[in-house]
Amino acid sequence: MMLKRSLAAVLASSVLAAAQAPSTTYRTIPSLSPQIDAAPSLVPAIYDPTAPNAQATCPGYKASNVVNTTQGFTADLTIAGPACSAYGNDIADLTLAVEYQAKQRLSVKIYPRHLAPQNTSLYILPAFLTPEPSGDGSTTAATSDLSFTWSNEPSFQFKVSRVSNGEEIFSTYGYKIVFEDQFLELVTNMVKDYNVYGLAENIHDFRLGNNFTQTFYAADSGNPIDGNLYGTHPFYVETRYKDGASSLSHGVYARNAHGQEWLLRNRTITYRTIGGSFDLYFLSGPKPTDVIAQYQKGIVGLPALQMYWTFGFHQCRWGYENWTVLQEVVDGYANAGIQLEVIWNDIDYMNQYRDFTNGELNYPVGPGQEFLARLHAAGQHYVPIIDSNIYAENPSNASDAYEPFQRGAAMSAFIRNPGTGDFYYGDNWPVSIGSLNIS
Ligand SMILES: *[C@@H]1O[C@H](CO)[C@@H](O)[C@H](O)[C@H]1NC(C)=O
Ligand SMILES: *[C@@H]1O[C@H](CO)[C@@H](O)[C@H](O)[C@H]1NC(C)=O
Ligand SMILES: *[C@@H]1O[C@H](CO)[C@@H](O)[C@H](O)[C@H]1NC(C)=O
Ligand SMILES: *[C@@H]1O[C@H](CO)[C@@H](O)[C@H](O)[C@H]1NC(C)=O
Ligand SMILES: *[C@@H]1O[C@H](CO)[C@@H](O)[C@H](O)[C@H]1NC(C)=O
Ligand SMILES: *[C@@H]1O[C@H](CO)[C@@H](O)[C@H](O)[C@H]1NC(C)=O
Repeated sequence: MMLKRSLAAVLASSVLAAAQAPSTTYRTIPSLSPQIDAAPSLVPAIYDPTAPNAQATCPGYKASNVVNTTQGFTADLTIAGPACSAYGNDIADLTLAVEYQAKQRLSVKIYPRHLAPQNTSLYILPAFLTPEPSGDGSTTAATSDLSFTWSNEPSFQFKVSRVSNGEEIFSTYGYKIVFEDQFLELVTNMVKDYNVYGLAENIHDFRLGNNFTQTFYAADSGNPIDGNLYGTHPFYVETRYKDGASSLSHGVYARNAHGQEWLLRNRTITYRTIGGSFDLYFLSGPKPTDVIAQYQKGIVGLPALQMYWTFGFHQCRWGYENWTVLQEVVDGYANAGIQLEVIWNDIDYMNQYRDFTNGELNYPVGPGQEFLARLHAAGQHYVPIIDSNIYAENPSNASDAYEPFQRGAAMSAFIRNPGTGDFYYGDNWPVSIGSLNIS
């Protein structure tokens, strides 16, 4: 049941730290969090022999009530049998929305038909968080590079094909759509020895291969080869080589910000998430550079132009004990004749890893101002890392008061446990030093 553990990890790494009473003073030696080796298991459900097989047990859906729209159509998807509850509660009523958004881009959305203000954000990713492309107002099935076909036998399944040569680029035929509140799954058929590139962030061969499992959720647990890293870019380019002489490429983007898995197998790719909806975009290419351009210009937007100095050489690491050590690093570059544009501090500079603080012993304000003045006078820049979690103060210890927590609480900024309405406490860097059992 790895997928549910992933959810906890996503929340834990982005919300609140445990509220336990710190019981010793601040250590002057930087220490790693006790959770450093305790990141959630990365073993996917596929390796768990007791994990339910949703394709075997779930009923799929039937499409009905097809209604043409300006650039495509919508339909109702209704669960085709008893709920399977593989990893959550099946959503019985869904909407299918197909839109030929541009000649080169087809959008296919499947989302719950009944939503209310309190549950919309679980399923629908707002456009203000991640750009959501819309139709150009004129492309239709008749003018698109791509065609969408579907069938209800044995349950709802769909295909996306390239009009110019009839080639299928995505096809769920033979597999069921699974849509639960904590688990979504679809499977696409793939050609033999397919060439898929992308699905970042990972450290892996450029060609992902036909036997690879990519798990995505936000975790701070190093840079494992083939494993989950920090970011999620659920987008791939597939290239089909034609007798070595030419090739055709297309793109698939799955707009979803939840923990997810992509299972690349010999003749299929299985896509699973632990929330959100199916929000798929198919890009017709046909050159790899066309696919990238269609993804950037048509979907996520061009990269923002950064300040000139950000393109220079940066130095960053965990474990700079104090301002003196940081200065030695800067001086070391100068002495070696290496141009250093930016020096970074990891969260060692904080008081007990609490955001918006500085350690009074190792990173006092006065020497920090002098350090920064020297750095800036040399035309160099400084970046302090800030984490997304906020320490939860111990309410029974007045000297543990922490204003960022108080202000966030007053603004109702923190995630609450459903049901009780209490704060959701995660486990991350601002830890109770007393609980570390270190001297
Ligand atoms: C809906 O659009 C399809 C494909 O463009 C067309 O074949 C069909 O006749 C349309 N249905 C209605 C009711 O207009
Ligand atoms: C969302 O909440 C509304 C109101 O409670 C409910 O009717 C609907 O079924 C919920 N949708 C889902 C997908 O759970
Ligand atoms: C597929 O990958 C798994 C996990 O890395 C590995 O154990 C297995 O040997 C691979 N199978 C083939 C045919 O390479
Ligand atoms: C996938 O293909 C490889 C290489 O042909 C083969 O060794 C492996 O058994 C196949 N795996 C499955 C699940 O068919
Ligand atoms: C800074 O840290 C280094 C390495 O631990 C130590 O040798 C040095 O005494 C410290 N300097 C100050 C001013 O704390
Ligand atoms: C109260 O909080 C302060 C600041 O975090 C800490 O130094 C002190 O040890 C705490 N006292 C108790 C009794 O936990």
